[in-house]
Formats: sequence, C-alpha cells, structure tokens
Amino acid sequence: MPATFTKSALLLSVLLGFGQAQAVSETGPEALATGLGIPHPAVIAHRGASFDAPESTAAAYKLARDLGADYLEMDLQRSKDGVLFALHDNNLQRTTDVASKFPERKDSPATAFTMAELKTLDAGSWFNSAYPDRARPSYAGLKILTLDEIIDIAQGNPLHKPGLYIETKEAKQFPGIEHDLKEKLQDRGWLSPADSKQSKSELAVGQGPGKVILQTFEKSSLELLEKEMPQVPKILLLWVGEGNIEPDSKVTFAESGEKDKAAYYAKQQPKDKAEFQRWVDYAKAQGAIGTGPSAALTRGGDQSYADLVQPWMNQYTHDQGLLVHVYTLDDAVDYQKVMDAGVDGVFTNRASELLKFYKRPAVASVDQVLKNNGY
Ligand code: G3P
Ligand code: CA
Repeated sequence: MPATFTKSALLLSVLLGFGQAQAVSETGPEALATGLGIPHPAVIAHRGASFDAPESTAAAYKLARDLGADYLEMDLQRSKDGVLFALHDNNLQRTTDVASKFPERKDSPATAFTMAELKTLDAGSWFNSAYPDRARPSYAGLKILTLDEIIDIAQGNPLHKPGLYIETKEAKQFPGIEHDLKEKLQDRGWLSPADSKQSKSELAVGQGPGKVILQTFEKSSLELLEKEMPQVPKILLLWVGEGNIEPDSKVTFAESGEKDKAAYYAKQQPKDKAEFQRWVDYAKAQGAIGTGPSAALTRGGDQSYADLVQPWMNQYTHDQGLLVHVYTLDDAVDYQKVMDAGVDGVFTNRASELLKFYKRPAVASVDQVLKNNGY
C-alpha cells in the first residue's frame, strides 16, 4: 500500500470528519477521487458531447449534461474585450465561418476578435459538412459560447448538475487568464464550499467539492492556477512533444515517413522512464491532484497520440498519490484497454458510449435528448 495514500486517508479523516472518512477509508485512487468529490471513474465530456453535436456549442454541452456526464470539458480563451469563452483551436477557421464573415482576418487568433464579433460567427454548420451522417439543420448558426453561458448550461438541469473541467489553452497567449477565471468562478459561486447535502450524489458533481477541475499543458499556467485557486483540484496534461515530455527520438513527422500523424505519435515514447517520472513528480510538487495523459487510439485519427497510460506509468502516478484522467477515447475497445491499465477517468467525445460502458446508461437516447433540447 503506497504511503502517500495512507497519508491521504488520514488527511481525509481530518477534513471530512470521522463519519464521512469511514465511507472513503479504503486507500487507493478511488478513495482519493471520492474524497475530492470526483466520480471514479469520471466521465469527462470532451468539448461537450462533441461526437454527436458541434464541439463547444450549446447543443454539445446540453447533450452531455442531459446524458449524465460528470464533467463538461472546455478549452478556455479570452476575447479582445476580455470575455472568457470556449474554443479549442488557435484560430476560428476549422469550426466557424470566419473565412466568409471576416475574410481578411480569417487566420487571426480568436483573441483578436471582440465577443460581439465572435457572436456573429456560425459555429455549427462546419459540423454538418464534416459529418453528414450526424448533421442536423438546427446545428446551423450555433454560436461560440462564453464561460458564463456554459455555467448556465451546467446549472440548467435540476436532475443532473455536471461539474466543469476547464483547460487554460495556450495560456501564455492570455496573460492573467488564471486570475480572470478565478474572478468569474467566484462571481458565479463555483468556488464556494460544497453543499454538503448535495455533494454525495453522483447526480450533483457540480455541487460537490470536485465541481471544478482545472487542467493545463503549461507548467507556468499550473503554477498560476495553484496560486489563484489553491483549493481547486488541478490536472497537469501530458503529451510527448515540444514544451512537455521529451521524446526518445527527435525525428519529425515529415522525416518519419509515416502515413498519418496517429501512426507517428503511436511510436513516440518519453526519452526514458525518468523523464516521465519527472513530469509526474512536477505535477505533484505544484499541487496537482493528477495527470491527464494522452493515449494511442486503436482506430487512429486526429486525437490519437503517444501511449502515456501504460500500466507502469499509471502505477507510478498512483504511487505518488495522484489520479490519472486520460484523453480522448471514443471506442469500447479503448475504454477497456485504459481501464485495465488502471486509469481513473476518461475524456470522451462520446459521453453516451462511455456511460454505457460504465453501466450508467442515459435515461434517453442521444436523438431524444437532442430533440428535447430543440435540436
Ligand atoms: O484537455 C484534455 C484534452 O482535451 C487535451 O487535448 O487538444 O483536445 O485540448 P485537446
Ligand atoms: Ca482540452
């Protein structure tokens, strides 16, 4: 039994009082997650239910919420006029019609636009063109969402209140975003102590102590998040590449001769065991409660990266008293593989499938929930 978990259990006894500590008195990652108010294993809806609806839009977040996902995941950016909003990419080209609305600025970063300008963009039609089999006329014209609007969605279903899993994306582009995020979460009551009556229920992750999880790939942002919000659980995201874990080979994708990036990434490994361990140790030293490593997907695709959830890696992370939330898996074969390897939660674009895999199926189908929400 790792000494760290013994310490965690003792700490939980003190923090929660003897009665509640009894319920989490087992040691190990599940006890750690439970003590922090984080479901185990956690279902993290990556950019919302983004397989079935346009990523980071109201359709995707309402669908994830109503299916019963534990967390709504988002990539946080800040507009030219200081409004926090969700967008994954550095610019607006892939997921909006910026090229037709602002042709001369189509390559500009999203931060070069005011929120009023961002709100003129159609963030849904691209999905209908990219995925005709999942297209819906109602997706056309969907808007980019502010953090405030995503909070409204998270709070909007009286029967299921998911938490927020917020990434400071490319945080160096947005100096002070960690402070702005703290102010917003504080204003909206998301940094207040948990409601003890509600927090034990799986239905109310968004009202418990694990209602917000902060995540970042950037060391400097993790340090700022810890400074601004020491009480909020944090995850250091891991991948093999520039600015993160050093690879064992410096061969670039172009030089590799691989046919696609997934095949290239699948061959990437940390330089050595010690390099992986250094990043886990760093996460712990900076106050993170876990890591968010990448995975190599069986089917490949553009979200398939280096396999950083090998059993020894998860074991090492657990031995340090940290959790492992892996990104981003959509197939049962991969869910099974990472669960066997020992992870504690999964980022998924298909919340409906992951919930089914965990035998927590939604009360209604994807189609029904979308229709209920007017899509
Ligand atoms: O935040 C975890 C996962 O989302 C990291 O990948 O590029 O989809 O933000 P990305
Ligand atoms: Ca993310």
